[in-house]
Amino acid sequence: MSKRKPRALPESVNVLLVGTGGREHALAWKLKQSSRLGTLWVDSTANAGLLELGRPCPESLSTPLDNNGTFRLRKFCEEEKIDLVVVGPEAPLADGLADTLASETILVFGPTAAGAKLEADKGYAKQLMRSAAIATAEGRTFTDRDSALHYLEQRDEPCVVKASGLAAGKGVIVCSNRAEAVAAVESIMSDRSFGSAGDRIVIEERLEGQEVSVLALVDGHSIWILDPAQDHKQVGEGDTGPNTGGMGAYCPTPLATDALMEQVQRDILVPIVDALRRDGIDYRGVLYAGLMLTPGGPKVLEFNVRFGDPECQPLMMRLQGDLLEILWRTAAGSLDEASFDFSPKTACTVVMCSEGYPGSYRKGLPISGLDEAARQEDVVVFHAGTRLDPDGRVSTNGGRVLGVTALADELRGARDRANDTCGLIQFEGAFYRHDIGERVLTPA
Ligand code: AMP
Ligand code: GLY
Repeated sequence: MSKRKPRALPESVNVLLVGTGGREHALAWKLKQSSRLGTLWVDSTANAGLLELGRPCPESLSTPLDNNGTFRLRKFCEEEKIDLVVVGPEAPLADGLADTLASETILVFGPTAAGAKLEADKGYAKQLMRSAAIATAEGRTFTDRDSALHYLEQRDEPCVVKASGLAAGKGVIVCSNRAEAVAAVESIMSDRSFGSAGDRIVIEERLEGQEVSVLALVDGHSIWILDPAQDHKQVGEGDTGPNTGGMGAYCPTPLATDALMEQVQRDILVPIVDALRRDGIDYRGVLYAGLMLTPGGPKVLEFNVRFGDPECQPLMMRLQGDLLEILWRTAAGSLDEASFDFSPKTACTVVMCSEGYPGSYRKGLPISGLDEAARQEDVVVFHAGTRLDPDGRVSTNGGRVLGVTALADELRGARDRANDTCGLIQFEGAFYRHDIGERVLTPA
């Protein structure tokens, strides 16, 4: 095998993209616009949109591509001269995929397992925030049910009960009173509804305000803040009903003023990266701060160690620059040599879901109208839970099926264009929220 100079940006970069959903389709769509892209490898179980853009990895590799079957995945990366591995989801990062695959010739975009603890262990994240004096909800960590219940006896304010470990975005129960909090503790610790993710729990004060997602690229030392986005978590119109992974998102948001962003950088992002460094962690990848804009200023709800989904979709729609170079330089530690910007327009993603989501839903329902949707100007339909059937047709394969993403001068125009395009797409039981962005268009 010829020796390559690993850390200078090559003319042609072979990329392995780990992950199978909407976030990864958006990343692949933008990567494809790079003149440096060599082969783009994707998971063989990826959604239909991703499979159209990338070459599927052999089915013999463990799928989803993760830290199981590590040896074979490493060998594959070496044989196919993969230069850059881009890890979309948090679970493989928490399992140490970046630790395993990074080598002299392979760069990995995404933190090591130690860095991924920031998302995978909410107790650790709280402790790190406390050590860095970062504003967050007041909270305590418990490892046994009795102490947690005893703590609740002393308070009756609305609170939030969280499984400390990874629970696919579901391990958070927002409670209005003590009875609900007690039920949440019982559910997580006695019924073990999130399995071992609930071995430790965090109980914290319930914050009120609007949520903003601030994503930054971190290359070990430099921090580049991306334009802030907002995501609608609740399933129903008017922000009602249970939480989901995200029903729609837009970027930028009018709530994020320059003054707010300066405060977020100074009081949250710089201190957390410093705190990670003090813990010996050279963090490279996305650092996502989920913030609540409270009357007392922005407070951290959570850190994630990856692009948000759907937030990644409007972000990619607006990104102007070479994503491949940006991800490469983030992983290589030379982000200051990259340049990128965002379109002055607003992008809005509306998520089309399967009937029943976020509860149980059917899969395998045929989807029609995608061709006509693809012809709409300034609209991209990102696939999330879809699959390519052997006959070449596309059908549903998840709760969040498509992320219909539109670009326009203003949020309202982008949202209307996305909604109109959703109207062109059909599958049995499809539903979506028509009011994405409404809370900033007509504030309560
Ligand atoms: P997390 O995974 O910790 O961000 O929690 C998921 C969602 O639960 C957040 O996006 C919020 O909508 C909500 N949430 C989490 N923590 C709090 C809190 N302390 N107060 C109010 N809502 C919260
Ligand atoms: N959309 C929220 C998340 O990705 O965590």
